[in-house]
Amino acid sequence: MAASPTPDLGPLRQRLAAAAAQPGGVAVLTGAGMSAESGIPTFRDAMSGLWARFDPAQLASEDGFRADPGRVWTWYAERRDGVRQAEPNAGHLALGAFHRRHPGVLTLVTQNVDDLHQRAGVPETIRLHGDILADQWLGPCRKSPGCATAQAEAGEPPRCRDCGNLVRPGVVWFGEMLPEGALEAAQRAVDRCRVLLVVGTSGAVWPAAGLAGRARRAGAQVAIVNPHESEIDGDAHHVLRGTAAGLLPALLEGV
Ligand code: APR
Repeated sequence: MAASPTPDLGPLRQRLAAAAAQPGGVAVLTGAGMSAESGIPTFRDAMSGLWARFDPAQLASEDGFRADPGRVWTWYAERRDGVRQAEPNAGHLALGAFHRRHPGVLTLVTQNVDDLHQRAGVPETIRLHGDILADQWLGPCRKSPGCATAQAEAGEPPRCRDCGNLVRPGVVWFGEMLPEGALEAAQRAVDRCRVLLVVGTSGAVWPAAGLAGRARRAGAQVAIVNPHESEIDGDAHHVLRGTAAGLLPALLEGV
């Protein structure tokens, strides 16, 4: 397959430079493709994607967890190891550097449950789908409300010594609500930005996918960075066919 020609980044760089003069001027929404070049698999890429190899209903739902907690816990334990061994790529680092150059300008919103944006210098990243390295109780602790997951009895998964409540990973599973306030903060960011960069998402999952159209309706320039077609290309003014680590440094350096 012929390599897609390097997109002309000039017009978008000019828009980014102008937006960088305004507080909240730039918003970025990222998905699994942002971390693909750090060795973390995406979800829907053919063959390599997690959902091409595993059943999300069994592994990323409360019912699946209750049906077989050990299988789900082990699967997340492997993914957690992968995240701990991964390093931010040139794309994460370019966003971190932009953030340092322009304090108060960038709002970074991610669907990713890894911590690579935070490690690359954007600790304020808004997490829409939770944190894979965090633990939480499956349900409210019946015997000792407020007891910490760290006090849980070891096991796969760990459980409460008093009431047997299970520990689960702090991610948003299918059918679950997003973390309190995360979506609202993301919506405020796209309502006020002048440029929204959408990087490495298929746009298959809502409400995250709706942020691109919302930004466009609010008058922002919307740009997509993705080597392949996504379900939200239609919301973009600029579609850049390339990778996060390949294009973000070229797009942001010197801006
Ligand atoms: N750079 C940029 N984009 C890439 C790269 C790369 N190196 N590699 C792949 N992509 C693109 C793919 O073309 C695809 O469009 O990243 C996208 C990944 O899409 P998904 O696997 O569907 O991931 P995402 O959009 O983040 O999924 C949304 O679905 O499974 C749930 O909760 C999970 O947060 C996730 C949500």
